[in-house]
Amino acid sequence: MSDIFEPKRIIVTGGCGFIGSNFVHHVVREHPDVHVTVLDKLTYAGSPENIAGLPSDRVELVVGDICDAELLEKIVPGVDAIVHYAAESHNDNSIADPEPFLRTNVEGTYQLLEACRRHDVRYHHVSTDEVYGDLALDDPARFTEDTPYHPSSPYSSTKAASDMLVRAWHRTYGLRVTISNCSNNYGPYQHVEKFIPRQITNLIDGVRPKLYGDGRNVRDWIHTEDHSSAVWAILTKGRMGETYLIGADGERDNLTVLREILKAFGRPEDDFDWVRDRPGHDRRYAIDSSKLRRELGWEPKHTDFATGLADTIAWYRENEAWWRPAKAATEARYRAQGQ
Ligand code: NAD
Ligand code: TYD
Repeated sequence: MSDIFEPKRIIVTGGCGFIGSNFVHHVVREHPDVHVTVLDKLTYAGSPENIAGLPSDRVELVVGDICDAELLEKIVPGVDAIVHYAAESHNDNSIADPEPFLRTNVEGTYQLLEACRRHDVRYHHVSTDEVYGDLALDDPARFTEDTPYHPSSPYSSTKAASDMLVRAWHRTYGLRVTISNCSNNYGPYQHVEKFIPRQITNLIDGVRPKLYGDGRNVRDWIHTEDHSSAVWAILTKGRMGETYLIGADGERDNLTVLREILKAFGRPEDDFDWVRDRPGHDRRYAIDSSKLRRELGWEPKHTDFATGLADTIAWYRENEAWWRPAKAATEARYRAQGQ
C-alpha cells in the first residue's frame, strides 16, 4: 500500500449537489482537521442549503464555474487536493441538450487539471460506471477496472472523455491523480429528477410513479455515504494514476426498486404508469469492487437496501421544503418528453 496522504485543505467541486454535499458532510464529521472549500456554480442541481449549518471555520462556499480559469487561479494555490464532483449529471437532460455536458464535464475537467498542474495539487476525479456502457441481463460479468470504455449517452460519453483527460495528465505531466467510477447512488439531497426521489415525491404528491421501458433495467445501488467513505480512502491511500471501481453489490431491476417504494407507501404493486423509454437506455450496470476492498481495505456499511430506502423516504417526507421548489418544473419537463 502507498503512503498515506493527509490533506489539510481541499477543494470539493460540486459540493452543493447531491453526492458532493454528502461528501462535504462526511469530511466535516469524520476528519476534523480538514478545511473544505466548496466550488459550485449553483446550477438547477446545486443548492447552498445542502451544506447549510456546517461550521463556517471548516467549510467555505465559493460560487463559481469550474471552467473559469481566472477564478481557479485565485482559489487553487495553497490547497492540498481537489476532489472533483461537479458535473452535469442527468442522462435524460443530456439527451435533450448535450451542450452543457460538453462544457462542464469535459472543459471543466480540463481547466481543473491545468490548475492542478500549475500548482502541483493532488487531484481526485469522481466518475461513473456508465463509462463502460452496459451489460446484458443474463451476462454473469461485472465491470472491472479493465473493462473497455463504451459509453452510450451524451452524459456518459462526456464523463468518459473527462476520465481520459485525467489519465493523459497523469501519464504526460506526472500529475498526482486517482479516478473512481461508482455505481448509482441513493440517499438524502438527491434531485427529484432522478429515479428514486422522483418516485418518492410523486407518491407523496399522490401521483403515480413512472417506469421507463419494461422496467427490467438493472442498476447497482450504493448508499451515498458509502461512496463518500470510498472516495476518502482513495484520496488518502490510493496509488497514483490508478482507477478504483466503487460498488456495494446492490444490483436490482427498476421494477423491484419501484415495488419496494410502493410497498413503503402502502400502495398496490402495480399502481404506476409505464412511460416512454429513454433512447439508448443502458440495460444493466454491475460493479466488481474487489480491487478497492483488497488494496485499500474499504467496505460499504449501508448494505441493507430496505433500511437505506426507508431512511431516504423518511428524509423526503421530512424535507418537503427542500425538494418542493424543483418538483413542478421537473415534472413539466418529463411530461413534455412523454416520460
Ligand atoms: P448533481 O447534479 O446532484 O450535482 C452536480 C453539482 O455540480 C451541482 O451542485 C451543480 O451546481 C454543480 N455544477 C454543475 N456544473 C458546474 C460548473 N460548471 N461549475 C461548478 N459547479 C457546477 O450530481 P451528483 O449526482 O451529485 O453527481 C456528482 C458527481 O458524481 C458527478 O461527477 C457524477 O458524474 C458522479 N456520479 C454520480 C452518480 C449518481 O448516481 N448520481 C454515480 C456515479 C458517479
Ligand atoms: P436515473 O436515476 O436517471 O439514473 P441513471 O440513468 O444514471 O442510471 O435512472 C435510474 C434508472 O431508472 C434508469 O434505468 C432509468 C430509470 N427511470 C425510470 O424508469 N423512471 C424515471 O422516472 C426515471 C427518472 C428513471
